Amino acid sequence: MIEEHFMKQHFQDIFVAPDTHQLLHYKGIFTNGFWSDGLLKTSSGDVQYTVEDGIPQFVPPSQDPWSNEEQVRAILQEHHIDPDRLIEKNWSSLTNSQEAIDKYGVHAQVIANREGIILELAGGPGGGATPLILKYNPQAKILFNDWGLWILKEWQKLYDSRIPNNNIGFAQFDATRMPLKNNSFDAVSSIEGLSNINNTSQAIKETFRTLKPTGKLFLVDYTFGRNEFQQFPKDVQNDLQKQFPFVGIGYEKFLTDVGFYIEKYQEIFQRPIVAGEGGFADLASQYGVDLHLHYFAIVARK
Ligand SMILES: C[S@@+](CC[C@H](N)C(=O)[O-])C[C@H]1O[C@@H](n2cnc3c(N)ncnc32)[C@H](O)[C@@H]1O
Repeated sequence: MIEEHFMKQHFQDIFVAPDTHQLLHYKGIFTNGFWSDGLLKTSSGDVQYTVEDGIPQFVPPSQDPWSNEEQVRAILQEHHIDPDRLIEKNWSSLTNSQEAIDKYGVHAQVIANREGIILELAGGPGGGATPLILKYNPQAKILFNDWGLWILKEWQKLYDSRIPNNNIGFAQFDATRMPLKNNSFDAVSSIEGLSNINNTSQAIKETFRTLKPTGKLFLVDYTFGRNEFQQFPKDVQNDLQKQFPFVGIGYEKFLTDVGFYIEKYQEIFQRPIVAGEGGFADLASQYGVDLHLHYFAIVARK
């Protein structure tokens, strides 16, 4: 039997063209008011985006690092990860391990208890806070984002089989060019999403724009220990700062620069860098720096 997946109604009118923010209209198959397969188009029809299984695709396959399913499977298998079980495994280890809940779930209950609609940014194979938000409130209205379509389809399969009549939507877009109307979301969540997005400050600007007035951003993300960062030679610090602006100075300045008011900024745990991690481990061993990732729980209000 072919499984059918749909876009939930509460997300259907929030999409606009990235950058120009022109309104988009859905043309395609509707089943009981849900979109499944079709197009999102501007009124003139000049600009259009594919919708498949209810997932609007704003990233062309050439820019999607997860676009080739065969390649994704081969890479995962090379790392001894079973592609068919990856998402289920991540979901169950996050929702069943108290250690993982304590580390990454600091905001999940608060978000789950908030009324309104939630955006999970760069949700990735780990799923961000979404598995835990749904554990506390299976009916939460969450739009789950990544720029990898494979990831979105895998999470969609899992949630549609585990949570009947769920309120989850999926959208493939670049978090630095969100195809979303201004003032749309009550909460935005991200766990290690911002640190993976090139141009963190642009993603923060877009988050501010798409949050409703009084909406909140809930982050769990890392920086380097300040003293550790300063042990790198100055030119290396400068290069790191250019590529990963938050590693030395954190997120505070980026948030307040766009207008966020910071309600919470608290270190929750730290862990040593793991060999191969973003090239940071090699750099640390090259310069003899005992490097740790320091994780912060951050809440910022629009
Ligand atoms: C390591 S994962 C992040 C962790 C994830 N939130 C979790 O809970 O596991 C990074 C994800 O960010 C996504 N990503 C990177 N740049 C992005 C962008 N500009 N917009 C949206 N997603 C992006 C990647 O496709 C990847 O799935």
